[in-house]
Amino acid sequence: DGDVRRLIAGNWKMNGLEDDLAEVTTLAQRLETPRPDNVDVVICPPATLIAPMHALQFDTIGLGAQDCHTEESGAYTGDLSAAMLRDAGACYCIVGHSERRDYHGETDEVVKAKLAAALKADLIPILCVGENLETREAGKAVDTVVAQLKAAFPGAGKGVVVAYEPIWAIGTGKTAGPAEIEEMHAALRQATSPDTRLLYGGSVKPGNAAEILAVSNVNGALVGGASLKADDFEPIVRA
Ligand code: G3P
Repeated sequence: DGDVRRLIAGNWKMNGLEDDLAEVTTLAQRLETPRPDNVDVVICPPATLIAPMHALQFDTIGLGAQDCHTEESGAYTGDLSAAMLRDAGACYCIVGHSERRDYHGETDEVVKAKLAAALKADLIPILCVGENLETREAGKAVDTVVAQLKAAFPGAGKGVVVAYEPIWAIGTGKTAGPAEIEEMHAALRQATSPDTRLLYGGSVKPGNAAEILAVSNVNGALVGGASLKADDFEPIVRA
């Protein structure tokens, strides 16, 4: 997987007001020198900040959305289409995050439709998959996650980014061990293609990023809490 270009993406979740643009400005400035040339850096802020961030025209930081609707337009109060997010300046779109699956009841079928909607609008989907603790402890993590992936991954998966986020590692300070990550990513590699970017997510921090990113078939990270501050996110990018 040495040829796959790395990607470090930050998922701000429901965090960030206009004042926080200062943080991303600091990050962009720090990434100017020395400029990391072997990695794409993306921030997925709340949708309200996509256009303001886009207006700042950082050339070191790409933008992503955290979700999109399955339809292109219509009577869907409160929702945003992939085309709107693209219009606001997003190039990527997270789909199927476990928080969407849990709190909004998104099924594999919905996630599949969102992924297709994102692709249609020229957004690069970041498809999230991951098992809960019960599944992990029952020894069914790999089968469950591969099934989740296959349920949403389009036949021609070109360009789709996959993020493995064990649910028990999100926001908990626990990360999967290198052996667990390696086993899962080998299975995801087999189920996708040699050039699919496979990210790990779940309590990635400056202190553990280098170890996680050194695992085979890990092409980057999807970072939650540690993406909110330039002091945390910059060292992860550099790792
Ligand atoms: O999408 C990123 C995520 O769910 C991981 O969050 O805070 O554990 O890095 P965190």
